[in-house]
Amino acid sequence: MLDQFIYKPIHSLPESGEIASKSPSNIALVKYWGKKPIQIPTNPSISFTLTNCFTKTNISFKKSENFSFNFTVKGVEKPSFVPKIESFLERIKEWCPYIFSYQIDIDTENTFPHSSGIASSASGFSALALAVLELEQKITGISNENKYLKASFLSRLGSGSASRSLYGPAAIWGQHKNIPSTSDQYAIAYHDLHENFKNYQDTILLIDKGTKKVSSTVGHELMHNHPFSKQRFSQASSNLESMINVLKSGDLHKFISITESEALTLHAMMMTSSPYFILMKQGTLAAIEKIWSFRSESKVPLSFTLDAGANVHLLYPLAYKQQVLDFIDNELIVFCQNQHYISDEVGSGANIISASYA
Ligand code: DP6
Repeated sequence: MLDQFIYKPIHSLPESGEIASKSPSNIALVKYWGKKPIQIPTNPSISFTLTNCFTKTNISFKKSENFSFNFTVKGVEKPSFVPKIESFLERIKEWCPYIFSYQIDIDTENTFPHSSGIASSASGFSALALAVLELEQKITGISNENKYLKASFLSRLGSGSASRSLYGPAAIWGQHKNIPSTSDQYAIAYHDLHENFKNYQDTILLIDKGTKKVSSTVGHELMHNHPFSKQRFSQASSNLESMINVLKSGDLHKFISITESEALTLHAMMMTSSPYFILMKQGTLAAIEKIWSFRSESKVPLSFTLDAGANVHLLYPLAYKQQVLDFIDNELIVFCQNQHYISDEVGSGANIISASYA
């Protein structure tokens, strides 16, 4: 099945070059929580791809006898990121051997603050993978479709949720028996969105910008001996099917109930792991209660979701933007650290900004 990802050069390697790519973050509607080696999800997931929260990555490379790479964020060396990149390059080595013929400088930049509590791994790994695949396309002439597919496959090896960032407006990762073309190895694009979900908004309340006490990696691991894992994995599969029907039919009521249930179930899994942990903060719960009252009084179809952190994502149709922004300014901003929130919306996925070779 993975034969399609085998590297088959037809041209010689460029001597040097520079490639810039851009990839957004994504927000899962049905959550990935639990994995097997190497980066195989224990249940399928679906996400909306975002627009404004993205990573821009620039790789410049020069042929060299000895492989080496240098990693910077806006030109500043970040040694703490190096081990992650190193193990990513090690994992993709068998699929992309050509990168080891170069000396590579990788520079990245996020539009969202590193300390915002928004994971940069999804946008970061997908931007890097797409840049690598751009070089591969130069050498192998693979189609654009396969370029994205392999970039999603590589991104997954860096961070599971990164596999979904390549495609907009939504992406599905993980095999589902009733959804054709789904795979544990890579994500696929999901396009069939009802008018209600076009330009859907995601306003992210930055409740807590601190570093998480328990990383996603540890959280995923705790699903192994989790008392509710079996039920959770089958619930996620059935929620994915329901969510796809909702995205097609435009049923906002059902959308609200699935997304909120998924968010709370994700955190319920954390609270019932051994050891247990809580990533929500007081502001998270207070914001959720406000959202529920606002929805019942105003009838605005606003729902929330959560990632593996305290921040609250507000999801709603574009038509209600002003009403929701007023609600945030009046009632929710008090729960945001330094009054910070980020306005985002559904977007179209990753792309190459420029590529040049010598
Ligand atoms: C709660 O993709 O960050 O955001 O594969 O270990 O890098 P790794 O985990 P990661 O986990 C994301 C978990 C989540 C849900 C989701 O995005 O589906």
